[in-house]
Amino acid sequence: MKPVEIKKDIFWVGAVDWNIRDFHGYSTYKGSSYNAYLAKDEKVALFDTVKKPFYMDLMHRIYNVMDPKEIDYLVVNHLEMDHSSSLPQVVEAVKPSKIYTSKMGAKSMAAHYKIDNWPVEAVGTGDTLSLGARNVHFLETRMVHWPDSMFSYIPEDKLLISSDGFGQHWATSERFDDEVDNKELMRQAAKYYANILLLYSPLLQKLLQSMAEMDIDIDMIAPDHGLIWRNNPGQILKAYDTWSQQKSTAKALVIYSTMWHSTEMMAKAVYDGLADQGLSVQLMNLDRVHRSDVLTEVLDSKALVFGSATLNNGMMPNMAELLHYLKGLKPFGKICGTFGSYGWSGEASKLIAAELEAMKLELVEDPVRINWVPNHDTLKPCRELGQKIGRMVAEQNLPASCRSIYCGE
Ligand code: FEO
Repeated sequence: MKPVEIKKDIFWVGAVDWNIRDFHGYSTYKGSSYNAYLAKDEKVALFDTVKKPFYMDLMHRIYNVMDPKEIDYLVVNHLEMDHSSSLPQVVEAVKPSKIYTSKMGAKSMAAHYKIDNWPVEAVGTGDTLSLGARNVHFLETRMVHWPDSMFSYIPEDKLLISSDGFGQHWATSERFDDEVDNKELMRQAAKYYANILLLYSPLLQKLLQSMAEMDIDIDMIAPDHGLIWRNNPGQILKAYDTWSQQKSTAKALVIYSTMWHSTEMMAKAVYDGLADQGLSVQLMNLDRVHRSDVLTEVLDSKALVFGSATLNNGMMPNMAELLHYLKGLKPFGKICGTFGSYGWSGEASKLIAAELEAMKLELVEDPVRINWVPNHDTLKPCRELGQKIGRMVAEQNLPASCRSIYCGE
């Protein structure tokens, strides 16, 4: 297993996970990677490790550069298991003279691994580590993605090792942004942002502002998942600026769960109303679309309209699951509506509306409900709901959805 030299004497020594299909609830249809980086200087530092089953991948790649015992320092930018579950084995093999991590990282490391004899040194923003010709500057980045998260920046190489930030869950043989299809890369980066970092958007805005104020000169961003940004790191920085402001486009989603297709007919009528106003609209049947793919589309959609049949005095289970997931990721600035067909009790659309109100999302009117099977006439309020929301979106003169906020343009 070969390492990849990403800068002179700095090597990618991580692992590619072709088989993972679920990452704590996020559908990773395209696998992932756990990136680790080895910097050789007068002193040698290994930045991050890999998920435990990939320990030997990491060690094989390191052996292709040097004997792991020659590593002086470990830098642990993030303690989540995908990056640290092989840490006890790595510490045992390397016997580092120091392990650098954030203050929260030191606490988490002690609590998680129950090991108090590791040579841990807590560092914070402004602290530096000399490796010889190059210096590592630490930057605490709380909640990108855990409280312990930090970035490591090497100014001599203009290299930012960004832990979970700017990553993608995408298994590839390629290592760099310019070696893959850019739209697919941005799509994977957007999916990652929407499902991992969306709720931390206000913190991301502050982080981007502080990075701008610090005037950090970057020509490569090396995240701990996915492709390394060497051709155009500005593309992902700009996209994070857009996504963390939750900027929307003239795009709507009609997200529904149907039992015997009546709610589905209503969804199509809402869709027609939205399309009448010139919006780009996607119809998303929760029986067919995974919640994490819905979230990817939520990222740049201004309007979200939810419909569910009523089951056992409640909403359909996959709608409840989606709303629970959505609530945790804290989208803001959306215009919403609800609808649903029912036989006798008909609570579903009202319960959805209550969930959206709890999320502080704007609801345009009371739920549209149809008793039993809709027909051309009874579908009229659904078309009108779509038209009303469509007009509200159109009035905002938002940019058109190019179906690819992911392009980062
Ligand atoms: Fe890739 Fe938060 O771990």
